[in-house]
Amino acid sequence: MLVAPSILSANFGRLDEEIKAICDAGCDFVHIDVMDGHFVPNLTIGPVVVSAVAKSAAKPIDIHLMVKNNTFFTELFAPIKPKYLSFHIEEEKHPHRLIQKIKSYGISPAIVLNPHTSLKSIEYILEDLDMVLLMSVNPGFGGQSFISSSLKKAEALRKMIDGAGLKTLIEVDGGVNDKNVHELKNAGVDIVVAGNYIFGSSSYKNAIDSLRV
Ligand code: DX5
Ligand code: ZN
Repeated sequence: MLVAPSILSANFGRLDEEIKAICDAGCDFVHIDVMDGHFVPNLTIGPVVVSAVAKSAAKPIDIHLMVKNNTFFTELFAPIKPKYLSFHIEEEKHPHRLIQKIKSYGISPAIVLNPHTSLKSIEYILEDLDMVLLMSVNPGFGGQSFISSSLKKAEALRKMIDGAGLKTLIEVDGGVNDKNVHELKNAGVDIVVAGNYIFGSSSYKNAIDSLRV
């Protein structure tokens, strides 16, 4: 299992130290939640801070957009050159066009699905994606409880991907801990995002290692 700590639960007063600490502790990606106060009822950080985080990080950046205007925010964050840029399918009328735009910047595109959103919504664009991010909480806040129906959704997505002979990665975000990570592994998940579980622990290394099942 690959591990992407969500910096939403980091101490923002000493962000540089926190980023270095999770990278030293052996994370695989640094997950950054961008919220605009419209798509979700919370507001986080913009390109100035994300760019500083990217400079501190020794690991690839995974940007999760939770915004209303995906194209505008894609253009804003593209110069930072994250490894992955994910946008929510619920908020995008032209996902195929946006995927091509993200690829044109040399960034790997990913689509995010809220807990209620059907896998059918990505059936015909799955082959264009490098990753699908399944939300296992309602987006907007860290520290929420894992929604267990996400497990059967991950299993179904694994079947879709394997059935089509694709290499698309599955990432799960929200309420992940050392208890549910085993079921996520069995469901065929490749990457877990964890905020509260990692940043709330006394040893980032032990927490990350405990998710590497
Ligand atoms: C929620 C964010 C998550 C969040 C995960 O909208 O997308 O990345 O920070 O935090 P935990 O692991 O605490 O649920
Ligand atoms: Zn996230």
